[in-house]
Amino acid sequence: MNARNRVQILHGVNLNMLGRRDPAHYGELSYTELELRVADWGHELGLVLSFFQTNHEGELVERLHGVIELADAIVINPGAWTHYSWAIRDALELTGLPAVEVHLSNIHEREQWRRHSVIADLCVATIAGKGVDGYREALELLRRELG
Ligand code: DQA
Repeated sequence: MNARNRVQILHGVNLNMLGRRDPAHYGELSYTELELRVADWGHELGLVLSFFQTNHEGELVERLHGVIELADAIVINPGAWTHYSWAIRDALELTGLPAVEVHLSNIHEREQWRRHSVIADLCVATIAGKGVDGYREALELLRRELG
């Protein structure tokens, strides 16, 4: 059997604007800097990462459909879709892959509407409020999960 080490990193709406969003919640890194940082961690852990970000819900759904053949696990930060996109929830569920939900900010301590995630129960873990370091924790967790 091939090594199970392929992780798809998915980002949803507005996350391409990191660096311009409130640094108190999201930190100072741009999206490109975040990708580079996460890519380094993936490399260190012997994982093969692919990145995808979109502001179009249907594109994220279609990427999730495609991922079934292309990845062994998923790290997903859907942005605001976290809180209401049943379409993304259904698409994530049908992948059947282990997934970790990551949020830069602590969604549990912000506005009421951010406290609920429609994907949380599908995920092996939710990591929120640790900034970019949350992605490292997600990759470490999936490394153990994939064996
Ligand atoms: C976010 C939290 C969401 O509530 C918000 O809409 C985002 C980013 C985070 O990473 O903290 O766009 O997912």
